[in-house]
Amino acid sequence: MKVVVLGATGGMGRAVSRRLAERGDRLFLLGIDAKELERSAADLTLRGKDRDPVGFAECDLEDPACFEQALSLADAHLGGFDTVIVTAALFGTGERLEEDTVFAHRLLVANFANTIAFCELARKRLLSRGGGTLCVFSSVAGDRGRKPVFIYGASKAGLSTYLEGLDHRFRSEGLVTVCVKPGFVKTQMTAGLKPPPFAGEPDQVAALVVRAIDKGTPVVYAPRAWALVMFVIRALPRFIMRKVGF
Ligand SMILES: NC(=O)c1ccc[n+]([C@@H]2O[C@H](COP(=O)([O-])OP(=O)(O)OC[C@H]3O[C@@H](n4cnc5c(N)ncnc54)[C@H](OP(=O)(O)O)[C@@H]3O)[C@@H](O)[C@H]2O)c1
Repeated sequence: MKVVVLGATGGMGRAVSRRLAERGDRLFLLGIDAKELERSAADLTLRGKDRDPVGFAECDLEDPACFEQALSLADAHLGGFDTVIVTAALFGTGERLEEDTVFAHRLLVANFANTIAFCELARKRLLSRGGGTLCVFSSVAGDRGRKPVFIYGASKAGLSTYLEGLDHRFRSEGLVTVCVKPGFVKTQMTAGLKPPPFAGEPDQVAALVVRAIDKGTPVVYAPRAWALVMFVIRALPRFIMRKVGF
């Protein structure tokens, strides 16, 4: 595969990129920090089967004006990508987002409107060459309105709905959409938060994500236990959701 990754410099994006490089897929990285991108590209080049140089370019999820150029650079380096992975997102605790309305607005724009804008540009390029795979990280937080994550969760609920519709609309034309819904995973994003039961590691998630990309699975809960947890949560009546702190 020829893969573009937005968010490969940390957490689950880094773990997925390492697995892909190690099995011989070609990569191009997009992110905000040039030094981190350079470091990650060097690491992935060394891990790569053919030591094929991994390319990179700056791309800020908060600045949609840079998306088109970033994707053009990826296309030029890879000779036309066939897979796009988006793990980048903003996160804030419920308390922070309830207090800081400016940051809450930034998060909603980045995680919802800008992520969709990026996906739309990527899917047009993929469809113009007969299709490919768009794998985007949403969250279990978008499955249900919950007390501690209602703003972040709303951004991911909107994203999940977009990804489901995209899959229905374009799969017959060759565009496969994979929506990843992680539960709690130990990364920089969750550093300092108390891990709940079923907390996962990035590499555990990466194994499931790579398998889902290979199979074209439309929705993947990771770690797996979260599929069952969210099955129960989705079934709970509202009067119970209002009482519990989950
Ligand atoms: N961790 C969890 O428990 C959890 C649970 C549910 C869903 N998720 C979702 O899973 C995805 C990956 O999460 P993670 O825990 O792996 O996150 P992470 O460790 O914080 O990594 C996020 C990656 O996105 C990049 N990034 C951040 N802001 C960006 C921006 N404005 N433009 C471009 N790149 C940006 C980061 O780059 P730098 O390293 O340079 O900042 C980093 O490479 C996210 O969409 C998150 O919402 C995570």
